[in-house]
Amino acid sequence: MTITVPSAFTVDDVLKDRVALVTGAGKGIGAGVAEQLARAGATVIVNDSDLVAAEYLTAELTGAGLRATSLSGDITRQDTLDEVVEFGTGLGGIDVLVNNAGITGKKHLSDLDVETWNRVLDVNLTAPFRLAAAVLPQMRRKGHGRIINIASIAGIRVSVLGGAAYTASKSGVLGLTRHLSSELAVDGITANAILPGVTLTPLVEQVTDEDERVRMAASVPLGRMGRPADVGRLAVYLASEAAGFITGVSIPIDGGMTVLPGDYTEYRTTRREDPVWTATA
Ligand SMILES: NC(=O)c1ccc[n+]([C@@H]2O[C@H](COP(=O)([O-])OP(=O)(O)OC[C@H]3O[C@@H](n4cnc5c(N)ncnc54)[C@H](O)[C@@H]3O)[C@@H](O)[C@H]2O)c1
Repeated sequence: MTITVPSAFTVDDVLKDRVALVTGAGKGIGAGVAEQLARAGATVIVNDSDLVAAEYLTAELTGAGLRATSLSGDITRQDTLDEVVEFGTGLGGIDVLVNNAGITGKKHLSDLDVETWNRVLDVNLTAPFRLAAAVLPQMRRKGHGRIINIASIAGIRVSVLGGAAYTASKSGVLGLTRHLSSELAVDGITANAILPGVTLTPLVEQVTDEDERVRMAASVPLGRMGRPADVGRLAVYLASEAAGFITGVSIPIDGGMTVLPGDYTEYRTTRREDPVWTATA
């Protein structure tokens, strides 16, 4: 039997010649994803509704010798989708779509009006569907594509900060991902979801104070909040050839949050008092 060994590649060129669009990439997780994709050799289209943030990150990436171009605009708007198609075509077609832009709703049902519900669903769920449909002809022409949806562990649990609309939208993203994976496999396109746990970004900073953040970090088995680069490195893997046989999956990246039931802080304290645990920890 002959074993074919693929030619070696360095981390810096796994996405060479690939074009990636990251939505909501001006800040937070999206910025971390854009940076890691660019470091892996991709040309990154940095989208954000915040023009200054999109341009700032693009300047930082290009200043570091990486390939990036900014495309500001709200992803729920048709003119932004039209620009995405135009930009992608100009760059030879989009290979990697990262649906990252997302917003939270109201924490409590009694404060959640239908306008907020609709807006959260529009940004978090409808826009990823519309973007996937918009870039599909380009991916089909290339016979290759990677759709990476940034969902949340709220999609399989309950959101502490984002309320019912957020939880429902992220569950919906998981259904959308499964569906895209089965329908688009025939075109050589994979679709997967990343489920971040609590990750330190402007979104989390806006809705928590320092004490809450300390408590949140303590509730994570691995003892810290996630970082945008953690998610970025997983996105690089899913976008690469190495992940070519992975589709339709949802991968939590949460420091162990979703494995344990109940309050981990209490669990850890109990375990620490256990002599066997202490001896082997
Ligand atoms: N931070 C966390 O703890 C966490 C956990 C799980 C999932 N997520 C998900 O990760 C994604 C990014 O979250 P984050 O914490 O980095 O948020 P963030 O608010 O820090 O950054 C989001 C970026 O998206 C942009 N954006 C918002 N609406 C947009 C729109 N309609 N069009 C284009 N851009 C838009 C914002 O301007 C901002 O720059 C979201 O989908 C969020 O639900 C975050």
